[in-house]
Amino acid sequence: MLNSMVEISAWIRSIRDNGRIAFIDIQDGSFAEALQVVAESSELPRDCHNGAAVLVRGTLVKSPARGQNVELKAEQIFLLGNCPQENYPLQKKQHSLDFLRSIPHLRIRTNTFLAVARIRSFLAQAIHRFFEREQYYHIHTPIITSSDTEGTGELFSVHHKKGTSFFGTPSYLTVSGQLAAETHALALGKVYTFGPTFRAENSNTNRHLSEFWMIEAEAAFLDIGGLIELSTSMLYYVLYELYKECIEDIRLLSTLHTPELIEQIEHLLTTSYVRISYTEAIDVLKSAKRNFTFSPQWGMDIQTEHEKFLCEIHYKAPVVIYDYPRAEKAFYMRVNDDQKTVAAMDIILPYFGEIVGGSQREERYDVLLCSMKEQGINPSHYTSYLDLRRFGSVIHAGFGLGFERLVQCATGMRNIRDVIPFPRAPGLIPD
Ligand code: 4AD
Ligand code: MG
Repeated sequence: MLNSMVEISAWIRSIRDNGRIAFIDIQDGSFAEALQVVAESSELPRDCHNGAAVLVRGTLVKSPARGQNVELKAEQIFLLGNCPQENYPLQKKQHSLDFLRSIPHLRIRTNTFLAVARIRSFLAQAIHRFFEREQYYHIHTPIITSSDTEGTGELFSVHHKKGTSFFGTPSYLTVSGQLAAETHALALGKVYTFGPTFRAENSNTNRHLSEFWMIEAEAAFLDIGGLIELSTSMLYYVLYELYKECIEDIRLLSTLHTPELIEQIEHLLTTSYVRISYTEAIDVLKSAKRNFTFSPQWGMDIQTEHEKFLCEIHYKAPVVIYDYPRAEKAFYMRVNDDQKTVAAMDIILPYFGEIVGGSQREERYDVLLCSMKEQGINPSHYTSYLDLRRFGSVIHAGFGLGFERLVQCATGMRNIRDVIPFPRAPGLIPD
């Protein structure tokens, strides 16, 4: 490419013009940082401002300036789309993320959001590559459903605008594709789905969205041990690929926002995941002799402060916790022999928290029926799910990975609303 003639269509990021020579930074979405164009001032068309779209014809040459390898020596510059400066919200200065969140349609034009978008795209493709390599089939599960898979009641209802019951039965936006994925795992063997999921949780945190994307894998003949293996190797694979291929974007984001980002990713790539049962985790927490806000007791939910202690102080590693108390968990999880716990697992990352949740599913008809009744679930709403246990039932397991949480880990962005193009969260009005 060097010394060859090129034509680049892009948007102007900044112009410095001393009346003789103009330095124009342009961005077409593919560079981590802008490409510098050097032109004679007389070549500049009128209205060549920050934000305008231009076509530059010129030669790529080695740059004498520091901090960049190449620059574009322009021969001709054409203005494609003018950008009036008076009310263009993006100025040359660095804007706060809070301000940028108020203009989601324009924040994508900043270096931060371009890098996040490229990483998001790369990770989505890496996930597909991982499952292809593992010979999983990609399936599509429905968005409109009638079931509350997680049993938490955090559902968005779907209505006809005219107020009529369109489907003749209460219907909701899906909270998880799992139950549908199970049907396919029990025929195709190994499947995954990657789609939008919706939760009407009133959680105003840096980790929760009302609409997020989830990767859900489900496989027949897989137990909880195999599931932990699968989910941890997927995380390793996608982060390793990212580290290899997107280091420039990672560097940029670490310079702009999270200085410890590279170190954190390297830590995840070089540290083995610790595996402990929930009971062991509670024992470790109890003997920690720390003043936790929630004092650890068997049966309680593991809180953020506990996760932090386990990953960041005690083990200094990502931790997989498995075999949770039955009372805390969804009806579909497989009951262990002790009758007190279920074969569920979560992956907790240092400086981050829960990223994956999964379980071995209850494959025994009678036990499943019993768990449903215990949780006040009407089995007649789950006849097809129960059918899977009546006709050729086998052990099977699956997990869900919150895609935005993965993107957060990979980009170091602290607020989950900054890793999805158009965030939906309580009080955030859709654009
Ligand atoms: O732990 P969860 O609720 O598990 C399930 O939905 C299972 N049905 C998955 C399965 O086994 N197929 O959600 C899985 C993951 C969480 O670990 C988290 O990463 C993410 O989804 N998640 C959210 N991400 C963003 N915003 C929210 N409100 C989220 N709720 C869960
Ligand atoms: Mg969970």
